[in-house]
Amino acid sequence: MDRIFVAQPRLAGNEKKYVLDCLDSNWISSIGKYITAFEEAFARYCGVRHAIATNNGTTALHLALVALDLRPGDEVIVPTVTYIATANAVRYCGATPVLADVQPGTLNLDPEDIERRITDKTRGIIPVHLYGHPADMAAIDAIARRHGLWVVEDAAEAHGAEVGGRRVGGLGTCATFSFFGNKIITTGEGGMVTTDDDELAARLRLFRGQGMDPARRYWFPVVGYNYRMTNIQAAIGLAQLEMIDEALADRHRLAGWYDQALAGFGERIVLPGQASWARHVYWMYNIFLREGEASRRDEVMRRLDEAGIETRPVFHPMHVMPPYRSDASYPVADVWAQRGINLPTHRDLSRADVDRIAGALASLLS
Ligand SMILES: Cc1ncc(COP(=O)(O)O)c(C=O)c1O
Repeated sequence: MDRIFVAQPRLAGNEKKYVLDCLDSNWISSIGKYITAFEEAFARYCGVRHAIATNNGTTALHLALVALDLRPGDEVIVPTVTYIATANAVRYCGATPVLADVQPGTLNLDPEDIERRITDKTRGIIPVHLYGHPADMAAIDAIARRHGLWVVEDAAEAHGAEVGGRRVGGLGTCATFSFFGNKIITTGEGGMVTTDDDELAARLRLFRGQGMDPARRYWFPVVGYNYRMTNIQAAIGLAQLEMIDEALADRHRLAGWYDQALAGFGERIVLPGQASWARHVYWMYNIFLREGEASRRDEVMRRLDEAGIETRPVFHPMHVMPPYRSDASYPVADVWAQRGINLPTHRDLSRADVDRIAGALASLLS
């Protein structure tokens, strides 16, 4: 039987045509019409004035924090359950990521725990829209305003997700995205920072391009970085963005199939929920073994693998890994992260694939 991968890209639109145009026109580096077109289209999609393309989602995060002038001694609140790049970007600035606990089910930042971790060194908050479900931005925004903090949305996994009908990418001071090959839309490797703030956008562009003064060639007023995206990456990204509505519709259909196929498993697993104010985009469809069953998680994943079904464990919390180990209390993350499994979630899965996955799970969990 064919192997089912946990994620894979679909390049079925104008990707090849636009890439060939880059090659034919000789514009293959980080200047070219596709960069401008992709940035403008992505900014429109997120409902903001500026989008600044980068070479991956990690550099997008680092660039955002540099442009916000994050410094050694500063603290930034990040969820303990996220991909490690969120915390690493804070460290790259010499600042301290202060880990906060997450909410059951979505594993997104718990606003109440943010409040408990704020000190006079706190500069900002990085909510992560984990696995495609947006964080509680209304509550987080209220906390940020009360304490005078900035908010960087880490939207690497949530292109097109919404909070109260408003798309992520325009809900904080700025937002960052990843376009790695397994993401909702891809450029192979790539990233983006979005913002409505003109001054911040200018700083983001300055630091992205080695710090070169836009009005004076080869004059560098600051130490910058080369975090630029290539025209070829942007060509792929533009073609991907043209199809994002179809991509999201396919993911919702897939989630519906999983919901149906796994509906009878309620005693044994918890299915992903969706807050009433949220539009989940299902970058990953997660299931959680019931409490007390955590010890079986790795065995279930191994047996699925033997049956030709690739899965991933939900991210290990930062506070249990060497660079960020902490004895502080994270009761929700401790209980939920070790029970979670990312099931295969991509556009080329069929109803029959979902039935095969559900069937394999049924025999393992019974
Ligand atoms: C939540 C989160 N933040 C940041 C990143 C970093 O993006 P990239 O892999 O493009 O550097 C990822 C990528 O997987 C991610 O999932």
